[in-house]
Amino acid sequence: DAEYQTIRVEQRGRVGWITLDRPEALNALNTATMREVVAAAETFDADEGVGAIVVTGSEKAFAAGADIKEMESKSSVEMTLTDHFGAWARFAAVRTPVVAAVSGYALGGGCELALMCDVILASDRARFGQPEVQLGVIPGMGGTQRLVRALGYYKAAELVLTGRMIDAAEAERVGLVSRVVPATDLLDEAQTVAQTIAEKPLPALYAAKAALDAALETSLAEGLRFERQAFAGLFDTADQKEGMAAFREKRAPSFTHR
Ligand code: CAA
Repeated sequence: DAEYQTIRVEQRGRVGWITLDRPEALNALNTATMREVVAAAETFDADEGVGAIVVTGSEKAFAAGADIKEMESKSSVEMTLTDHFGAWARFAAVRTPVVAAVSGYALGGGCELALMCDVILASDRARFGQPEVQLGVIPGMGGTQRLVRALGYYKAAELVLTGRMIDAAEAERVGLVSRVVPATDLLDEAQTVAQTIAEKPLPALYAAKAALDAALETSLAEGLRFERQAFAGLFDTADQKEGMAAFREKRAPSFTHR
């Protein structure tokens, strides 16, 4: 893609792939990468032919964090005025389900990028961590908030305060990843999971992701209200009629994503 310098983008079936591609910096996330990942994700999100997105890196590194060399000399005012990581909010707001396929280092912003995804598949060589305190800063792309919600306070606090790296097995044990697979199978498995998602009716996928997000953002009562409304709303879709008719007729459904 002439369009992109730091990522590779392709579509496989109904799955949009975004591969971080800055091997010289272990896929450290600089401003260009952030803009490109956000643009690619929003482009896939706007495409009805795409029902799931995979974000991945290399076998050695998913992403070793925000780009330290780019940030090092910045002032507090500059970081604030440019809202240095602000665009990542647009990545997290994508309506299409996103699968992170993580091998190697997922540190700092790399771990936080995975935490913005809906499914995290980890290879047995994945390593997660939030080493920011060692740099005199703290996680800045959501780590303190999303880790507490995903792992609970005490696991999250230990990771953020010590900067300790954890391997794939521990990440699975504490609930930081959906599933661990052998490194050689990671990309095939990511495509399989993403395609399984992508074949489902888009209106139901959008509603499901929005309702899951609500669970992290609102009270139980409000989340349940949101869920009931979203559930009811799907009864105006052709795919609800098709899905339920196919069940009754004991055949495979043929969805139109309408
Ligand atoms: N930013 C910029 N460059 C990075 C980088 C980063 N986060 N991580 C690695 N690189 C660069 C290295 O500087 C090195 O470049 P040179 O060859 O030009 O020196 C290259 O990538 C290869 O890295 P190493 O030689 O260090 O590779 P290694 O295998 O010896 O070590 C590592 C791997 C343990 C991941 C180590 O690179 C490392 O500790 N990286 C930084 C991890 C980190 O602190 N991440 C948090 C960043 S801050 C952040 O993310 C803020 C936030 O919340 C958003």
